[in-house]
Amino acid sequence: MKKTIIKGTGRYVPPRIVKNDDLSQWMDTSDEWIRQRTGIEQRHWIPENGGIGSSDLGLEAARIALKRAEWSPEDIDLIIFGTLSPDIYFPGSGCILQHKLGLKTTPALDIRQQCTGFIYGLTTADAFIQSGHANRILLVGAEVHSTALDISTRGRHVSVIFGDGAGAACLEGVETEESVGVLASVLHAQGELSNALMMELPSHKMSPFLSKEMLKESRHYPVMDGRLVFKIAVKRLSHVTKEVLQKANLSLDDVDLFIPHQANLRINEAFANLMNVSPEKVFNNIQRYGNTTAASIPIALDEALEKNRIGKGSTVVFLALGAGLTWGAVIYRFAE
Ligand code: ACO
Repeated sequence: MKKTIIKGTGRYVPPRIVKNDDLSQWMDTSDEWIRQRTGIEQRHWIPENGGIGSSDLGLEAARIALKRAEWSPEDIDLIIFGTLSPDIYFPGSGCILQHKLGLKTTPALDIRQQCTGFIYGLTTADAFIQSGHANRILLVGAEVHSTALDISTRGRHVSVIFGDGAGAACLEGVETEESVGVLASVLHAQGELSNALMMELPSHKMSPFLSKEMLKESRHYPVMDGRLVFKIAVKRLSHVTKEVLQKANLSLDDVDLFIPHQANLRINEAFANLMNVSPEKVFNNIQRYGNTTAASIPIALDEALEKNRIGKGSTVVFLALGAGLTWGAVIYRFAE
């Protein structure tokens, strides 16, 4: 039977580091508030004058992942690009990345599942591999948040959490009878709560779809009911983890490491507590990157491998909840 195997991973963040104290030049905030409420100490942002898109960050992460997988770009059958912050409104960043990789006709697909982008992307890649539509897939999660945040005091409860960055994984269908690769996945969405976390503009239901008045009202910045999303995240992440373990016929003890989306350190601590899982079994790096949305899980995966927190034979659960609302989990086992 074909199994979806991770052959290489990579990550890239822009070199500019923005510390919590740096944010005080634009808004009324403090290092203490941000650390206490979120665990974040710093994030990476692209240069203030812009000029770098999600596809550029994705390209750097993809190059590393390709090298480690020992693939050339021509080996890729499909690109899946998870982002809520595409380079341009359309076409998707997957197509732009395809060109930057020097490819001519390789299919490229963007997914707009926000913080759950890597979970939806990995599940989609697995389905493409299982159905025989593709066998070598480049999955990228990349975000440039910093250019579209309200960095005034009005937007501080949202803007302090987000960082820019990219992560990538090369996924390959491999024939094996071993219980390895993607073992199970569960996806969910609840559009009823789409207003809880959204960026409204530009909107095609408006005419004109963008106006000076709308910009003056700051409707082009993300808005979030943070407390509601926080409470829902803790509950749903625990539930979906139990669901995916049951689907794979595994127990909590079978898991070596949980790699959750990095939205808020307190969410991940509450998750560990509720699940009665030791905090050492939950990977966190939000302290250094902030919330990089679709990039956060592939960045964390790449770091966890580099730090030898996981390796041959490890069983990992990836889990996330984000705008949509969307949430889900994937269980993955590395070969011995
Ligand atoms: N600095 C200082 N004070 C602040 C800041 C700040 N950056 N932000 C808010 N405050 C103040 C508020 O004004 C408020 O003050 P008041 O009590 O005097 O009115 C107080 O702090 C509490 O504000 P809240 O907005 O209620 O802050 P909360 O405790 O909810 O923390 C946070 C905000 C960190 C964003 C939290 O709600 C959270 O992490 N929510 C979940 C986020 C999440 O998981 N999102 C999903 C993924 S993202 C995606 O999908 C794109």
